[in-house]
Amino acid sequence: MPKLLFLFPILFFLFLRPHHAAEDFVRQPARPLVFTPHNRPQSHPQQVHVSLVGDNYMKVSWVTDENGVPSTVEYGKLPGKYESSATGEHTSYRYFFYSSGKIHHVTIGPLDPATTYYYRCGGSGPEFNFRTPPATYPIEFVLAGDLGQTEWTNTTLEHINARNYDVLLLPGDLSYADTQQPLWDSFGRLVEPYASRRPWMVTQGNHEQEIFPMIYPKGFKAYNSRWPMPYKESGSESNLYYSFDVVGTHVIMLGSYADFGPDSDQYKWLANDLAKIDRSRTPWVVVLLHAPWYNSNLAHQGEGESMRLAMEEMLYNSRVDMVFSGHVHAYERFTRVYDNNADPCGPMYITIGDGGNREGLAMLYKEPKPVISLFREASFGHGRLRIMNDTHAHWSWNRNDDSSNVVADGIWLESLRSSCSCAPKMEQKMEHTSGKDEL
Ligand SMILES: *[C@@H]1O[C@H](CO)[C@@H](O)[C@H](O)[C@H]1NC(C)=O
Ligand SMILES: *[C@@H]1O[C@H](CO)[C@@H](O)[C@H](O)[C@H]1NC(C)=O
Ligand SMILES: [Fe+2]
Repeated sequence: MPKLLFLFPILFFLFLRPHHAAEDFVRQPARPLVFTPHNRPQSHPQQVHVSLVGDNYMKVSWVTDENGVPSTVEYGKLPGKYESSATGEHTSYRYFFYSSGKIHHVTIGPLDPATTYYYRCGGSGPEFNFRTPPATYPIEFVLAGDLGQTEWTNTTLEHINARNYDVLLLPGDLSYADTQQPLWDSFGRLVEPYASRRPWMVTQGNHEQEIFPMIYPKGFKAYNSRWPMPYKESGSESNLYYSFDVVGTHVIMLGSYADFGPDSDQYKWLANDLAKIDRSRTPWVVVLLHAPWYNSNLAHQGEGESMRLAMEEMLYNSRVDMVFSGHVHAYERFTRVYDNNADPCGPMYITIGDGGNREGLAMLYKEPKPVISLFREASFGHGRLRIMNDTHAHWSWNRNDDSSNVVADGIWLESLRSSCSCAPKMEQKMEHTSGKDEL
């Protein structure tokens, strides 16, 4: 296998590189790749990660080199005491000369909220534990995009881990394997200490595509096999877009690399999903996607524009509170925006593609700064969205250069549901909960 590792870069440069070569901006020097080796027995779980799947259920995913290992998770509330167990499914895939290990996905539950569960995968190997999200406010999301697997990634993950949170949301570009499949395994091992402890909910970026003309025309082989998200549960037919609810928040994961035009399945699914939101149950609606619709960095200018034109009005009419994207390796916060203008009823747009991948930072910005852009900085870091109650949430950005407790940018938000002037366009079933308007 190590010999074949060298074949992938050649294929990659020959066929896929031209797509990126068009980028003409200068990035801050990247830091070296961290390859995380496999150092457990063949039958033991590796790359363990968990994700939310329906109310009170969690999906446990892991890989074993050995094929005979059962797709079973034993779990309970005390270390070493597993009162319950569940059996799920497994898959595997090939990509050129690479064959994946056995990839297990097991849904466990029902689980109690805000509870630590101890679990073991496939009947042997180390014990892991995770904590389920709370049943009531507050809930804290971590946002980190374009992670990759470099020393910067490691720093970002350490900062994320230094303070408690409930659910991690990733707006695309996970491993930067870029067709070198062993790097997907390495990424899984790098993030396991974090992703096995808190649910990680992801959507795809351009680096997940791994499309190869004629041979893998649809792409997303590794991504869909390794990181299945609860798309069926949300009425979607594709792992590339889905939604889920957690504590007063409806989270919509869109696919920047799936069709999004008015005739597309994604467009129809989104219209349907937005129509079904019950704002009395989930007053907050947040959307994640990869290629930003608003971006004043010189990197990736215009790449999200056709998707914005197709879908922005739907999000606006549904009074989506926030839209997070990645792709641009920097941080930027916009005011509430609709159709390129500040609009108190539009979503707040945030670019959080500064997780720490091998390509480095996107340093150059459009000058002068557009008035709708309120804060922009090319530094590695992560964001936190703390939803306090039905009306108030706090957003903050934490820079890797600071200690983990320093907030480099922060703002309070009021939900659009609680805003009188924005309310009329919303569903009739909504009632006013507050008389105040803000931002
Ligand atoms: C990455 O972080 C882990 C955990 O903090 C640490 O043990 C490891 O040495 C770090 N690796 C690198 C290459 O910085
Ligand atoms: C919601 O949270 C904010 C910020 O903590 C607080 O000021 C406000 O009073 C809370 N509202 C309710 C109804 O509890
Ligand atoms: Fe990207």
